[in-house]
Amino acid sequence: MQENSPHYPAASPTGKEAAVAVKSRSPAAEQTFRRSDRTNRLTGIRIVGTGSYVPDRVVTNHELEQSYGFEPGWIERRSGILERRYAFPHQATSDLCYEAAKRAMEAAGVTADEIDLCVVGTFTPDSGCPSTACLVQDRLGLDAPAFDVQAACSGFMYALMTASQFVATGNSRLALVIGGDVNSRIVDAKDQRTAPLFGDGAGAVLVSRGGPEQGLVCYQAGADGSGGPLLEMVSGGTRKPSTAETVAAGEHFLQMDGRNVFKWAVRAVTETIDLVLEKSELSPHEISLYLLHQANARILKAAMDPFGVPPEKVWSNLDRYGNTSAASIPLAMDEAYRSGLIEPGDLLLMSGFGAGLTWNTGIFRW
Ligand SMILES: CC(C)(COP(=O)(O)OP(=O)(O)OC[C@H]1O[C@@H](n2cnc3c(N)ncnc32)[C@H](O)[C@@H]1OP(=O)(O)O)[C@@H](O)C(=O)NCCC(=O)NCCS
Repeated sequence: MQENSPHYPAASPTGKEAAVAVKSRSPAAEQTFRRSDRTNRLTGIRIVGTGSYVPDRVVTNHELEQSYGFEPGWIERRSGILERRYAFPHQATSDLCYEAAKRAMEAAGVTADEIDLCVVGTFTPDSGCPSTACLVQDRLGLDAPAFDVQAACSGFMYALMTASQFVATGNSRLALVIGGDVNSRIVDAKDQRTAPLFGDGAGAVLVSRGGPEQGLVCYQAGADGSGGPLLEMVSGGTRKPSTAETVAAGEHFLQMDGRNVFKWAVRAVTETIDLVLEKSELSPHEISLYLLHQANARILKAAMDPFGVPPEKVWSNLDRYGNTSAASIPLAMDEAYRSGLIEPGDLLLMSGFGAGLTWNTGIFRW
């Protein structure tokens, strides 16, 4: 498929990283982004339980339009999102992660003493220190190392990939992998082009040793830090600590060049899906279910159109939750699993993409 696809530039002769250009409206801002042909395989692992949690507070487009004077209908038209969930004031990311983890443990029928690793993908930690994973570990009473992985909206895929290495080597027998974010706390509520796209949530899975064919049949994890400015929080870190002036200027909020993120995402998702399918010698139709990061319904459609798979194979819950960053893939997986759509032996294709820039696309045999 790779050679025939107009969406996949010819592989570089060296097989090394090549670059693609994403054009901006302003020629001065035209930027070239990295791509790679390198993939990996990580089998012998399986997911034994899933769980997810979203706060009860539903925030509709209408509410945001009324509160902030947003153009009526714009959010739905440009993103497909109808509503999202916001954490209550007393809730932080670790609270959502804890609830999702409890549900995954319940589903798997395991107790805390069986879990020996806790990895959390998040870019909205409760605080800079300690890690959100340590807060969850303590609350669940785990005897386990715990650490966060920060890869923004690719966070769950990066966390899954990381924890799975421990399981595959035998250094973990049962790993808890969580993706969770409270995006409502990092966006500028008045920014129509960013805030309404995001919501809060968490999803969790438990990973243990599996059969030789189970797990990540093929995956590509990638990064291109040169695209960092497309999605960034300028102040609040060691480069530019928060001051009264930076807060007044709103520099602690997530700032996004939505148009260029859109174009990069469509290309990155299509290309990496094409690549992992080609390397696995699978046709798009052999995939049972596509669990893509839920960023924008138009991104999902544009990225998937070249593959010609029926829409019901591409999971979408954007209308209800918006973009929940690291939570979106495990939340989708939990919903799909509980709906009876995932059976042993099924091939799932997951693709996370977002700030960094980062991406991680993998085919997972259940
Ligand atoms: C913020 C946003 C809603 C604004 O919408 P908008 O102002 O209507 O802008 P559009 O989405 O139409 O424009 C995006 C760009 O992609 C282009 N585009 C549209 N459809 C496309 C497709 N199928 N393939 C490639 N590019 C496409 C548009 O032409 C536009 O480029 P241009 O500005 O050079 O003309 C939207 O850009 C967006 O959702 N961006 C991604 C945000 C996101 O998901 N961030 C988190 C990532 S994890």
